[in-house]
Amino acid sequence: MSEREPILRRTEAYVREQMSGEGTGHDWWHVDRVRRMALRLARDEAADPYVVELAALLHDVADHKFHGGDETAGPRAARAWLAQAGADADTTEHVADIIARLSFKGAGVATPMSTPEGAVVQDADRLDAIGAIGIARAFAFGGSRGRPLYDPADAPEMHDSFDSYKSSTGHTINHFHEKLLLLRDRMNTPGARRIAESRHRYMEEFLAQFDREWNAADAVPSTSQKESE
Ligand code: ADP
Ligand code: NI
Repeated sequence: MSEREPILRRTEAYVREQMSGEGTGHDWWHVDRVRRMALRLARDEAADPYVVELAALLHDVADHKFHGGDETAGPRAARAWLAQAGADADTTEHVADIIARLSFKGAGVATPMSTPEGAVVQDADRLDAIGAIGIARAFAFGGSRGRPLYDPADAPEMHDSFDSYKSSTGHTINHFHEKLLLLRDRMNTPGARRIAESRHRYMEEFLAQFDREWNAADAVPSTSQKESE
């Protein structure tokens, strides 16, 4: 009998327990959305659904953002969990490697995935960072770090190293320019690129409306003006 199903179900229970109720958008439902999207994308990419589901479930268990920037904490936690859950060594190494490569590391830093399983999990995680849910998550995360919504005096920066990206303390509107608006063109798979298109446009509309509201007091009133304030 395959060991896969019980390992998956135990992993799901473990992650659900670890991440439920988290308040920065890295909660259990983020993981669940990434898992479901990664499995959907996997069908078109001939990716092994077992590795995909395990990597999606474990991808944020010890994210560097919550471990003082330590990017080895995530793969280490996944390896430790899978070893004690009884997963085979190849699967464990593959999942740990996916988690090590997954994160966005700055506008100028490439984050290539070397397997179809890694490609779909990275795409699914990035799809959850854009669109309506991405907007909600960005402000939730920004708020949790005490970041302002916006500050017109502070322009975006295109980070060319993971260290400079990690140490950035800018406002959340900058995060759209420094990461979220770049993700559409960095999708690995055609399926994810299609889904990213409308989510990307929605973020552009949001930013345009944010800007109109920010500057509404300076606008010349006009009877034909449709802009909703
Ligand atoms: P990654 O590992 O690629 O950062 P995650 O699944 O950990 O992906 O999710 C990142 C989430 O955290 C995104 O929704 C993103 O908007 C949010 N986030 C990360 N850094 C910032 C930031 N500086 N300001 C606002 N939101 C941020
Ligand atoms: Ni994630």
